[in-house]
Amino acid sequence: MSYDLIVIGTGPGGYVCAIRAAQLGLKTAVVEKRATHGGTCLNVGCIPSKALLHASEAFEEANKHFSELGIDVGTPKLDLKKMQAFKQGGVDGNTKGVEFLLKKNKVDAYHGRGRIAGAGRVEVISDDGGNHMLETKSIVIATGSDVTRLPGVTIDEKVVVSSTGALELAQVPKRLVVIGAGVIGLELGSVWRRLGAEVTVIEYLDRVLPGMDGEVGKQFQRILAKQGMVFKLSTKVTGVDVAKKGATVTVEPAKGGEAEKIEADVVLVAIGRVPYTEGLGLENVGVATDEKGRIQTDSHYATNVTGIYAIGDVISGPMLAHKAEDEGVAVAEILAGQAGHVNYGVIPNVVYTFPEVASVGRTEEELKKDGIGYKAGKFPFTANGRAKANGTTDGFVKILADEKTDRVLGVHIVGADAGNLIAEVAVAMEFAASAEDIARTCHAHPTLTEAIKEAALAVDKRAIHV
Ligand code: FAD
Ligand code: NAI
Repeated sequence: MSYDLIVIGTGPGGYVCAIRAAQLGLKTAVVEKRATHGGTCLNVGCIPSKALLHASEAFEEANKHFSELGIDVGTPKLDLKKMQAFKQGGVDGNTKGVEFLLKKNKVDAYHGRGRIAGAGRVEVISDDGGNHMLETKSIVIATGSDVTRLPGVTIDEKVVVSSTGALELAQVPKRLVVIGAGVIGLELGSVWRRLGAEVTVIEYLDRVLPGMDGEVGKQFQRILAKQGMVFKLSTKVTGVDVAKKGATVTVEPAKGGEAEKIEADVVLVAIGRVPYTEGLGLENVGVATDEKGRIQTDSHYATNVTGIYAIGDVISGPMLAHKAEDEGVAVAEILAGQAGHVNYGVIPNVVYTFPEVASVGRTEEELKKDGIGYKAGKFPFTANGRAKANGTTDGFVKILADEKTDRVLGVHIVGADAGNLIAEVAVAMEFAASAEDIARTCHAHPTLTEAIKEAALAVDKRAIHV
């Protein structure tokens, strides 16, 4: 078979790229080694984690907060098997949806491992070892990422788990030790804490969520600690010893010092992800990678080999599903002769805990480092009418605007529904809005979005409700 485009990997980057290419008239095929489409995100990432976050939040609400609302349901009982089935329903619905969309757009789907045999040639190796060759004008590599391993620590997905195992636990661990206070550690740590686990988070750095705004990180950590999560920052793990039941985690201060042992029933290793290119045959064609193993591309997603492109987690930039999707659309449009483009300055980043954390654009630390003058407007949810009515007053909105032009440079939110709230400011930033533009836009009352308007007013020191 001969194609205009073969996409290897059907995660959010790959399947979206294939659909957009087909829409633009390219004869397109995808190759996927997993039994279902949707990649990490739909199978073992975004979707199952959000289903468990949703269900565990409902459990905690019923357990701790319903009575405050005057609803007496007694003590709710957890049926973890059913909760896991609920999660799987969400995953299946989504992966089947992708299968349907590929068919609807007449994208040929091959099941098997894709290996680049040369420019314009992709070999599909099926599970039983059989193989056949496909020919194509262009190849897009969208093979995603894999878990970063901790040297000397074996992930068995039972006692020592990655995010994949942490999404599948059949029992609530009494003691969960999380290594890494990044997005996965805090999201999945929240899930199991809500369901009854004692959660201790060990982080090498002196803060949670490195890369996010420092003030956001500090306040968020305080909120999670209030919820019962225990943090050991500036701490390194020197060993994990698995016993018949559970494990012992040995830690010591990052700068060196006395070692301490922490007992755990389950240990979650969540120290980041690495690009995945195993068995892809990059060496056959000489596709260049960088020091972190990421495929190197130019601004048009082209690798150093003519006709081979790459997108998503396997290249540089934030490892986020929506970033991979937008790159998928951009490269398809470029291949069809259009001007595909992604604005990397406006990629929202959301942590789906309670409260949520959401940010877009520059942090205060980045602006200071780059010597960019800025004004900050902050508004707490304690002063927002809807948050007060809902009893969700933790957190704040912070808007950073250029000192001279008032253009919005970054927005950082900790608060209920922050992940939805951030969309408004992402659109505003795409249109190069000033804080004044947001401040003068009428926001419905009573909504949490009014906190954004007030933060925009606060940039110019004229917030009304504080
Ligand atoms: P992937 O989704 O990793 O897809 C790559 C696909 O390629 C896989 O299906 C793989 O089987 C296939 N593949 C690899 N090699 C080959 C080969 N040689 N031949 C054939 N197929 C191959 N991001 C968010 O934006 N929001 C979230 O809420 C979020 N939650 C997450 C939660 C967890 C627990 C994890 C682990 C990740 C989460 N992410 C989230 C990150 C998100 O999953 C990734 O950024 C996204 O999946 C990247 O998409 P991709 O298409 O680049 O790669
Ligand atoms: P991460 O990069 O977000 O966080 C890893 C954390 O581990 C960092 O705080 C780091 O300092 C720490 N760390 C690294 N080595 C360590 C060590 N040896 N000991 C102790 N701490 C150590 O990575 P994470 O949480 O694994 O997630 C991977 C990626 O998946 C994220 O970067 C994100 O791109 C994506 N993701 C996105 C989600 C979302 O958008 N809501 C949800 C989950 C994952």
